Amino acid sequence: MTPKSFLLNDEVHSYLLDHSEPIDDVQRDLIEETAALGDVFSMQIAPEQGAFMTMLTRLMGVTSAIEIGTFTGYSALAIARGLPPGGRLLSCDVSPEWTNVAQRYWDRAGIADRIELRLGPALETLRALPQDPAYDLAFIDADKTEYSAYVEELYPRMRTNGLIIIDNVLRDGQVIPGNERNDEDRMIQAFNHALAVDQRFETVLLPLADGLTFLRKR
Ligand SMILES: C[S@@+](CC[C@H](N)C(=O)[O-])C[C@H]1O[C@@H](n2cnc3c(N)ncnc32)[C@H](O)[C@@H]1O
Repeated sequence: MTPKSFLLNDEVHSYLLDHSEPIDDVQRDLIEETAALGDVFSMQIAPEQGAFMTMLTRLMGVTSAIEIGTFTGYSALAIARGLPPGGRLLSCDVSPEWTNVAQRYWDRAGIADRIELRLGPALETLRALPQDPAYDLAFIDADKTEYSAYVEELYPRMRTNGLIIIDNVLRDGQVIPGNERNDEDRMIQAFNHALAVDQRFETVLLPLADGLTFLRKR
């Protein structure tokens, strides 16, 4: 399996997968079916990231989660597996095609009853939600241009100590000043800077997969 992180080579990636919670048949088949879709496969989160998100969901005792960016459902599967019985994940995307794949795998994994899929632009979905601090965990992994807006909409909807996880904040290393390729890189650069000084959150950026930022709501 090719690493999704520019920080890992094949050998180190295989080693860490071989020494972590093993990927099961459902995850393996989902990875293979998504890989067969072509270049879009790069959008799927890394397996080690999924394992970590399951553990984090469980350790935090998350009962209510939300994700922006379902795709073929790997991250939703990871979060849902960490939820206790009765726990809920709201997963948002615009694509019926990709989320059909997701729903098949959620069924197969026996966790479909924990996930509500909402199709439509995620910003509209978020704005339509009550402004109550309902969520323990949020995962942002969709259109990068809206990342700031997603954080702003999520903020009032997160409980104190709730965690927002944001994907792809290292952009294959192109966030380093001077390495930017395009407007999206520059946007994430500015976004990362703004979060680092945002006193509403305790912020940790880690080199997991393509870079993850963890925001704990103070
Ligand atoms: C990087 S992929 C998500 C990968 C997924 N988390 C996984 O584990 O496989 C990004 C997803 O965001 C969705 N997306 C893009 N723009 C969106 C928007 N405005 N609202 C909701 N979803 C959007 C795309 O359809 C795509 O499925």
